[in-house]
Amino acid sequence: MSISEKSNQEMIGRDELNDIEAILAVTNHDVDAVEHVVKNNADSVFTWDYSLARPNLRKLYEKAKTGQWNGTTDLEWDTDVDMEKVMFEDQALLGPGMDPALYADTSIRHWGDKEWLDFGIESRRWQLSQFLHGEQGALICTAKITETVPWYDAKLYASTQVVDEARHVEVFGRYLHEKLGGEYQINAHLRMLLDDIVNDSRWDFTYLGMQIMVEGLALAAFGFLHQLTNEPLLKKLLRYVMSDEARHVAFGVLSLKEVYDGMSDAEIKERQEFAFEASVRMRDRFLQQEVWDRLGVNTKEIAPLTLADPTRVMFQQMLFSKIVPNCKKLGLLDRNDMWLRRRFEELGVIQFEDWQDTGEEFLAFEIGKDMPAIGEQA
Ligand SMILES: [Fe+2]
Ligand SMILES: [Fe+2]
Repeated sequence: MSISEKSNQEMIGRDELNDIEAILAVTNHDVDAVEHVVKNNADSVFTWDYSLARPNLRKLYEKAKTGQWNGTTDLEWDTDVDMEKVMFEDQALLGPGMDPALYADTSIRHWGDKEWLDFGIESRRWQLSQFLHGEQGALICTAKITETVPWYDAKLYASTQVVDEARHVEVFGRYLHEKLGGEYQINAHLRMLLDDIVNDSRWDFTYLGMQIMVEGLALAAFGFLHQLTNEPLLKKLLRYVMSDEARHVAFGVLSLKEVYDGMSDAEIKERQEFAFEASVRMRDRFLQQEVWDRLGVNTKEIAPLTLADPTRVMFQQMLFSKIVPNCKKLGLLDRNDMWLRRRFEELGVIQFEDWQDTGEEFLAFEIGKDMPAIGEQA
């Protein structure tokens, strides 16, 4: 029996991966809304089997209990954060913006240090805002997993992740409000992805979408920012959040490995397509369309340059450095004639396939340990 092939249109809503018009057409229209309702189609499952069936998940559960921290008292909230100074220093390491040759013929050709500094500050606010909204997505998803996963050991662990995610929402929200003057709205591409994850009835899709894709990317993104910035409060906040996130990604890898090893090709294909859809949604959001809008720049003019800027391309690709090895470990890359491998090649991220997966990495990320630098995790 041949397995049906979904078109790009069906998976990501457009035929061409890099169709800028179509990407930018997806925007958030209800920017003033304070609520967003998503249908959660899943069954809540009780289990009467209280035996220790999955020791590796129970080990994570024990680690989670001793790894708790308090966002109120463990972080120095009285730290004075001068965003202009912070961004000036961070940009000295990162480079201020694009190569001037790239934007020589555009409306931002006159931008000098001041404009790129403002852009950097807005980008930081936008980035941390998307972290915040993603953390709320994780809070909702792990509450859902606690209900839907049929395994006792996984329910115990997932409940600790709910508390972790509440803490992450708390600290990112507080940082944005107290130090950066408030948050940006959720990016429409991220919201579509979170909607799809919450909406799906199959419990393993929640894990795949959140623990493998969204949290895999978050772990890499937090790692970058943690390594880059010298702002002490943000650095410590990220370090603490990462100690939790490494456990969360491990939870996804350990749980899904068992499930996916026993699945048919047709079932795996649906997971591969979902992993691809999630990858594209996450990549699309890095156009930062809301930041350009806020600075009064025509996003349509700038977006193609952003996609072509080699520094940004490299940075975006690195964000997949956890996702690709984890997908490989789950057997998702090569099933069905290497379907996901070919998609990751198209996205330019397959080079991370042999980097370390995140099944055990949480031990190195514990608070108090010297976390491995990005390159050392390869
Ligand atoms: Fe989190
Ligand atoms: Fe998490």
